Amino acid sequence: MKSDDIKKTIIVGAGVMGNSIALTFAKAGIEVALVDVNKESLDRAVRLMRSSLNTLADHGSIASEEIPSIIERIQVSTDMESSARGADFAMEVVVEVEDVKKKVFSDLADVIPDDVIIASNTSGLDIFSFAEIKRPERLVIAHWFAPAHIIPLVEVVPGPKTAQEVVHVTADLMKRLGKKPVVMKEFVRSFIVNRIQNYIAIAYFEILENGWATAEDIDLAVKTSLGIRLPIVGVVQNMDFTGLDLVLDVMKSYGASNTYIEQKVKQGHLGAKTSKGVYDYNGRSEEEILNKRDRLYLRMLDHMEEINAYQPV
Ligand SMILES: NC(=O)c1ccc[n+]([C@@H]2O[C@H](COP(=O)([O-])OP(=O)(O)OC[C@H]3O[C@@H](n4cnc5c(N)ncnc54)[C@H](O)[C@@H]3O)[C@@H](O)[C@H]2O)c1
Repeated sequence: MKSDDIKKTIIVGAGVMGNSIALTFAKAGIEVALVDVNKESLDRAVRLMRSSLNTLADHGSIASEEIPSIIERIQVSTDMESSARGADFAMEVVVEVEDVKKKVFSDLADVIPDDVIIASNTSGLDIFSFAEIKRPERLVIAHWFAPAHIIPLVEVVPGPKTAQEVVHVTADLMKRLGKKPVVMKEFVRSFIVNRIQNYIAIAYFEILENGWATAEDIDLAVKTSLGIRLPIVGVVQNMDFTGLDLVLDVMKSYGASNTYIEQKVKQGHLGAKTSKGVYDYNGRSEEEILNKRDRLYLRMLDHMEEINAYQPV
């Protein structure tokens, strides 16, 4: 099976994520059957998809003449069986409740052929431990980020029985949709981004609860620091600029440590200053590396000012 062979997808769950995922498939020329138990969810999904497509057209991401044909590619229904006819890919996007997902997986498996991939948008449930389907090697996680028709990342996460081919086809399909899939080596709850985001949430909940800063000040502080750096160096490469020796000292100062960082420091790979840290800068000088980084930061700053990013939405 190749991702190019996928012509129709069934998407179960038409809420916040389902409608946005559906329009992404339809935008890429793939027929969509969007299914929900709730007729109101489907009506709302149609309204939201039209509105999102208009926003995309206003921005110039699509031509407004394309909108009718994109909408035509999406059939909404409360009937899973008839919707599944001809589907060669399935996305589960229902509520984050184990029993509901479990039932949807087995219902889906009953109405689609055994070789059709079932991808779940779960935010972190271990679906592999409770899904009861024929051929569990076709079950995979494809975790999108809201708004799914705009944010590029889809985390593709295999379970212990997921076939490698299923992972490849799913990641390729996401690329075909214009997404940037990141494939994890194995399932771990919350994957990459929610794992990171959850720790960040613990910190701002604590600040808010204790009244140490206002909501507006927390957001402004984050936008004017991490907000500039994150798009350029992510979270891991940023340590190469802090210096891994300092990162380790800071960790030690509050009684923690990390074997990955310890190893790097022991090898003398301290980051940009030694031209090797987490990343290898291939002998480039510290000045060269910092120059490249800083030009990007300056462009990012200009862009943030230009779009008035420091104001709340
Ligand atoms: N909201 C987010 O930002 C976000 C981001 C990434 C992943 N997710 C995950 O995506 C999934 C859906 O989240 P959401 O925010 O779209 O939820 P939502 O509540 O907006 O939508 C869920 C939809 O599922 C429908 N549903 C419930 N049971 C069903 C069934 N048996 N068959 C068909 N439809 C059924 C509901 O009617 C509802 O329309 C969850 O697993 C969630 O964790 C959400």
